[in-house]
Amino acid sequence: MLNPGATGHLAEWEGETPSSIIFRSANGAIAEDIHGKTYLDMTSCSGASPLGSNNTVFTTRLAQAMEQETDVLPSPVSEQRQLLAGKMSEMFPDTPRVFFLRTGSCATEAAVRIARYRTGRPVILTAGFHGWHDIFQQPPWSDNPPAKDQHIQDYQYDLGILEQQLARNQGTVAGIFFTPEPSVFPPELLQEISSLARLHGVLLVVDEVLCGLRYAKGGYCRKHGVKPDIITLAKGVAQGVGLSAVAGTADAMAGADRAYLGNTYLRENRAFVAGNLTQEIFEEAKIVERLAERGSALKRQFQTSFERSGIPARVLGSDTMFDILLPSQKHGRAFAHRCLQHGIYTGYPGTYMSNASMNAAFFRVLHAALELALADYRKDEDMTAQVTDASMVDYCAEAFHATEKACLSNRHHWA
Ligand SMILES: Cc1ncc(COP(=O)(O)O)c(C=O)c1O
Repeated sequence: MLNPGATGHLAEWEGETPSSIIFRSANGAIAEDIHGKTYLDMTSCSGASPLGSNNTVFTTRLAQAMEQETDVLPSPVSEQRQLLAGKMSEMFPDTPRVFFLRTGSCATEAAVRIARYRTGRPVILTAGFHGWHDIFQQPPWSDNPPAKDQHIQDYQYDLGILEQQLARNQGTVAGIFFTPEPSVFPPELLQEISSLARLHGVLLVVDEVLCGLRYAKGGYCRKHGVKPDIITLAKGVAQGVGLSAVAGTADAMAGADRAYLGNTYLRENRAFVAGNLTQEIFEEAKIVERLAERGSALKRQFQTSFERSGIPARVLGSDTMFDILLPSQKHGRAFAHRCLQHGIYTGYPGTYMSNASMNAAFFRVLHAALELALADYRKDEDMTAQVTDASMVDYCAEAFHATEKACLSNRHHWA
């Protein structure tokens, strides 16, 4: 039986924190709930909306295109899909064969299946969050899951554990899976993991569902000179419309030819039209550069507000995706609570993501809301508590399920 005391994410979403808010509408990075209270979205709709909600260029072009295009087709093999596959191959030239799915979790599970079919081996060594599907329900994303897949082993971003797992499972490892978390882990960690994958003859699978279309043009691996066998992508592919992708080398994707990956709703032509338009707008409006520029302003806003209020905090990460570290989980939860009260939509732990719509008016409202949130936070919490290495170790365990060693051995990156 399930432990009724254990809280999962759904309970959390439907309980007291962010999701007790019922949204009605959003424009750009400002959303409104059913009571008319507005929130400044720090999550870019969980990364799904790099352009911001209701972006008029996107919505107008989509409406126009759909006057000519078909909504749903008898087969998933369509002109729009092939067009989008071509664009993705150009963007991710090291992994040119692209297969589409709907959600990020669809893509990560498909990547595992492809790796297993390609190698004929069952074991996946994994670090980081890959979605809600059963195979990835290791803690902290699920407390004591009733079904554990013994072939999925979490190395918790720890090279020592990874090396032990590679030795213990010699001959049975299909691939090493890795989610980049640029706030904490440097690119060299992935470079080392890539070398280990080559050394042991296993596939390197990188989960770029969150970062692939925002961190840098062509994604995290390309930016840092890592050549993966497979990457997974989703957020930002089609501006909030459900579409994800597995992109791989021709060799790795031979695994897809034997695996069953069919799914009904890839017949939804509208999603591919949305994907093609999104990628067109990304090019035309230099969206990745804009995300970095707005993200840099967002980071600066938090940094200066914390400094001016004399609040111990650290803002860590890249311009397009960063985390805020407070002395303890208790401090973090109190901060997020005060933010929500004052209309800043965030959580703790949480990744802050810019969107291209964040303009001067948005930053003015954010500045005022943040001052109020920080003033209340100061009153409630112990301001003598500092952000220490222990705060970071705790954060890494909670947010990424990383070990203390994994966190501290990358101290040079985040300290
Ligand atoms: C790195 C990563 N992988 C996989 C997923 C799962 O994507 P989805 O929620 O669309 O299933 C997410 C979602 O947040 C993610 O950030």
